[in-house]
Amino acid sequence: MVIRWVISLWVLLLTIGVGGSTPPLLTIQSPDGDIVDCILRENQLAFQHPLLKNHKLQEPPTHIPNMVVKEAEMGYKWQVWHQTGTRCPEGSIPIRRVISKHNGTSSSSISERTKSHEYVIGSMENKPKIYGTQVTMNVWHPVIEGFNEFSLGQIWLTSGSYNDSDLNSIEAGWQVYPDFYNDSQARLFIFWTTDAYNLTGGYNLRTGGFVQTSKEIMVEGAISQTSIFGGDQVDLTIRIWKDTKSKSWWLGIIIGHNVLEPVGYWPASLFTIQTDYAETVQWGGEITNKNEYGRHTETQMGSGYFPDSGRGKVAYMSNLQIALTESEFQPLQDLFVGATHPEYYRGKKLNDTCFYYGGPQQLNSKAAHRMLDYTILYFTFGLFLLF
Ligand SMILES: *[C@@H]1O[C@H](CO)[C@@H](O)[C@H](O)[C@H]1NC(C)=O
Ligand SMILES: *[C@@H]1O[C@H](CO)[C@@H](O)[C@H](O)[C@H]1NC(C)=O
Ligand SMILES: *[C@@H]1O[C@H](CO)[C@@H](O)[C@H](O)[C@H]1NC(C)=O
Ligand SMILES: *[C@@H]1O[C@H](CO)[C@@H](O)[C@H](O)[C@H]1NC(C)=O
Ligand SMILES: *[C@@H]1O[C@H](CO)[C@@H](O)[C@H](O)[C@H]1NC(C)=O
Repeated sequence: MVIRWVISLWVLLLTIGVGGSTPPLLTIQSPDGDIVDCILRENQLAFQHPLLKNHKLQEPPTHIPNMVVKEAEMGYKWQVWHQTGTRCPEGSIPIRRVISKHNGTSSSSISERTKSHEYVIGSMENKPKIYGTQVTMNVWHPVIEGFNEFSLGQIWLTSGSYNDSDLNSIEAGWQVYPDFYNDSQARLFIFWTTDAYNLTGGYNLRTGGFVQTSKEIMVEGAISQTSIFGGDQVDLTIRIWKDTKSKSWWLGIIIGHNVLEPVGYWPASLFTIQTDYAETVQWGGEITNKNEYGRHTETQMGSGYFPDSGRGKVAYMSNLQIALTESEFQPLQDLFVGATHPEYYRGKKLNDTCFYYGGPQQLNSKAAHRMLDYTILYFTFGLFLLF
């Protein structure tokens, strides 16, 4: 009796857990341990967000600049769960069943962010109106030293500012975050906030807001492979653009020549700054440093190598493009690259459409020891000469 009660409670919790009152149409067991629930699109958590009360699912995007829109042929196995060969039925979307304690909100204060978050960022010298961006980044498998630290490569599209606490930001990329995902795989992630990371928005689909339309791509799903030193580079090409009609920001993954899979969109009604364009765009790497051992973390950004290690070894942001009108993407022409903690993580501009980023270089501590040894040697030798 008690057991049956416990089981029913458990089933109830699971059902609530996937965001809808109806059970999933299909559940797929991914080889990496993820449980993928296919739920009807209209039952996704997004629609429970107060700002989306009267929102009607929009599909497909009104237009995609410079892109032949094709339904993606998903013969390939871009994400780990694709390896099962099973996909979600028409009209449903794949949702990773959340097992961690995190609800997806960022709730990190500005002081916390400026203290523990470190960046290598590419941005623009000029400040035009931005209607979209695209970037091709290689995906790595950075080592995360602290369980609650993360490492990522991503796009930021923002309006507003930290100082006015009205920073509106939409973000997408790949991320390794053990505490959040309960493993160290590189996963596709998205994020949004409209109050400088205070109370609104959050990661992936865990908080409502982003409306997913794709039945092929799983937000939060692990990417099948990562880049190999001196070998195959695994690319993630992301495009975000403003839909002219609905004013939503669409997210797409480009998975072949001119083939784009629309993943979903951030509806215009989420944002507190209601311009048609974004004020800034940035691309780059970010890590968190929790100073756990009383020293700076050894968590890697990108591949863990500094940018001067050369292609095949380093993380890149390449083929940088922006849309300066609602209808056309063009190569970036005024790239600026900077780092917040260049002693650990550095950037290097190759040209206006490509830069390398990463650190703090593997075996860094050994190199430091060797340097120290030489210093002692010279010092001792110097003393010896003096006497
Ligand atoms: C997290 O991963 C560990 C190791 O793979 C596993 O034993 C544990 O059950 C997972 N936690 C949850 C909540 O699923
Ligand atoms: C999410 O978790 C954070 C931190 O534990 C908490 O402060 C916040 O209230 C939670 N938000 C929701 C919507 O449950
Ligand atoms: C934001 O405020 C800080 C501290 O008050 C100041 O140093 C900084 O210049 C301001 N930034 C902008 C963009 O206004
Ligand atoms: C976060 O929002 C709350 C409620 O509006 C506000 O009191 C607080 O000052 C905000 N915190 C920051 C860091 O902006
Ligand atoms: C910029 O550098 C990258 C990497 O070397 C190269 O692939 C690309 O063609 C270059 N682009 C331009 C416009 O020179």
